[in-house]
Amino acid sequence: MSAHKATCISCSNIAFIKYWGNRDAALRIPLNNSISMNLDHATTTTTVAFDAALNDDEIVIGDAPANAAQRARVIAHLGRVRALAKIETRVRVESRNNFPMGAGIASSASAFAALSLAATRAAGLELPERELSILARQGSGSACRSIPGGFVEWLAGSENANSYAVSIAPPSFWDLRDVIALVSTEEKKVGSTDGHAAAASSHFLAERVNALPARLARVRRALFARDLAALGPAIEEDAVELHLIAMTSAPPIYYWSPGMVRVIQAAQRWRADGLAVYFTLDAGPNVHLICEAQDADQVAARAREISDVQQVIVNAPGGAARLIEEHLF
Ligand code: DP6
Repeated sequence: MSAHKATCISCSNIAFIKYWGNRDAALRIPLNNSISMNLDHATTTTTVAFDAALNDDEIVIGDAPANAAQRARVIAHLGRVRALAKIETRVRVESRNNFPMGAGIASSASAFAALSLAATRAAGLELPERELSILARQGSGSACRSIPGGFVEWLAGSENANSYAVSIAPPSFWDLRDVIALVSTEEKKVGSTDGHAAAASSHFLAERVNALPARLARVRRALFARDLAALGPAIEEDAVELHLIAMTSAPPIYYWSPGMVRVIQAAQRWRADGLAVYFTLDAGPNVHLICEAQDADQVAARAREISDVQQVIVNAPGGAARLIEEHLF
């Protein structure tokens, strides 16, 4: 591998306890710890090459040049990498998701995790996992959880140096599945960054922050015991709370959609019929159906029968962000 070029593949992640609201928005120091699982079928691959012959940074996402907002955010992140490496060289970045763009799957997590590892390596740096997680966090908060593998906890911390994510169990620890039901939507989603900023205006936020230590403990306990019947209700509670806060923020944010509610109600019916499946949600229209491996085919088949569901993606627990030899250019 050339010293100036590196490629990384990184998994997206689904939070069981959500990151919602910052103590320091610029540094993305969150209000609370969060817990997630990496998703092995929702990945981003990114190649970064520093090249002294370039007059400007070239950023390509999918098949097209990045738009102005994406470009600004990627270039700000590259600035952090340049500062660490003490270089000013221009760069070419190409990034691809293996899931459909615009499908509303949180892509900033896998994108900034992959960018952080590829860019630091291409710049000649070998950061330990904790430093990489700290770097990725500043690009997108949830990206810090896509650096370590498997089941991950982001330790909120209080400042840049102590806010990072660690693996709390490897992917093989529990054969859980996230069956993502992609729900059709015509509404434009409000970005999570705006959602975090609005959270403090909801009078439910303080109550959430107070309730979280107990819920975090419940989720850790259920995870370590591989007890889905204990994990499920806690993650549903947390997902609904995120939306409650979004809807009661000023201005209110409705990620909630009719299709999403229909999938949630279907999951409740399947559960009443004896299928062990629980839902969680992100800041978008999709429903993540959490079940054990032996039930995943059944859950996926039932989800496909719902007319609001455009596509279903089944994910097992994914590994850590890693370098690969096949470059995108
Ligand atoms: C609802 O990490 O996307 O998915 O730091 O502004 O990029 P930024 O926010 P982001 O927020 C994720 C919010 C969430 C919950 C979660 O993943 O914990």
